[in-house]
Amino acid sequence: MAPRKIIIDTDPGQDDAVAILLALASPEEIEVVGITSVAGNVPLALTTKNALMICELAGKADVPVHAGCDRPMGRELVTAEYVHGATGMDGPNLPDPTMPLQEQHGVDFIIDTLRSNPPGTITLCPLGPLTNIATALEKAPDIAERVHQIVLMGGAYFEVGNVTPAAEFNIYVDPQAAEIVFKSGIDIVVMPLDVTHKALVTKERNAAFRALGNAAGTAVAQMTDFFERFDREKYGSPGAPLHDPCVTVYLIRPELFSGRHVNVEIETTSELTIGMTVADWWGVTDRKPNATFMGSVDADGFFTLLTERLARL
Ligand code: BDR
Ligand code: CA
Repeated sequence: MAPRKIIIDTDPGQDDAVAILLALASPEEIEVVGITSVAGNVPLALTTKNALMICELAGKADVPVHAGCDRPMGRELVTAEYVHGATGMDGPNLPDPTMPLQEQHGVDFIIDTLRSNPPGTITLCPLGPLTNIATALEKAPDIAERVHQIVLMGGAYFEVGNVTPAAEFNIYVDPQAAEIVFKSGIDIVVMPLDVTHKALVTKERNAAFRALGNAAGTAVAQMTDFFERFDREKYGSPGAPLHDPCVTVYLIRPELFSGRHVNVEIETTSELTIGMTVADWWGVTDRKPNATFMGSVDADGFFTLLTERLARL
């Protein structure tokens, strides 16, 4: 089967970095046609620089990287240096990137790629706030029916919020954008905290990355070492949750995940719960299902695949 063509929309982020490395290490299953950066974990200048550094770390300096939106659609940017560090990708000491940033804006790249490829052949993989995707949908509504699928990291239901008691970070940063995406009618697969908090880098899994002995394995071990301190302190969990790699692992081994096709609405106004993903997990409303909301993952299968693929870089 031909590899699946994807655009990765991202705010790196250590976990974004791992997701991107996995995709770039898996050309049989995934063709990364481009990467678009967005403001999220840190401001846009840093997420863009980090995206370029990750491509170079993977030895793929030919992947087109486009900078996208520098702020959410309708509110001030909220960042997460307290989780990811001042650079957004603290941990390893990677060289500054030398590969070029593309001139075209990320939103226009998304629109043009969807219009120039046959309908149903491009999958969008958002790993950060949904600003670029929603802006593209607003600017070019015709692209919605051309998207094959959106596989995104965001939201939470049983696990509730990580940035407020009710909301997960990516959705909280730009709830207006999330609402546009969830109402778009596009086939959506969601990796919420309910599943990402089950993909934890334990000491043994971190040691396996380090033992690979290549630059990517070492950097991933250093990134996850840094990134775990936040979740250890907050949740008492044994290691860093690999939120965003759930998206790229799913593209390769979807059978590792299980969830339900349910209705998901986004809270956009309440001060108390803004950014909450209201998932009708128990089917208590007659609202139409609009997303496959994942709930569990085979974590051993996940880490076996990831480690094996990082070894290829
Ligand atoms: C999400 O927010 C970011 O901090 C991570 O990169 C991930 O995309 C988890 O809530
Ligand atoms: Ca992210």
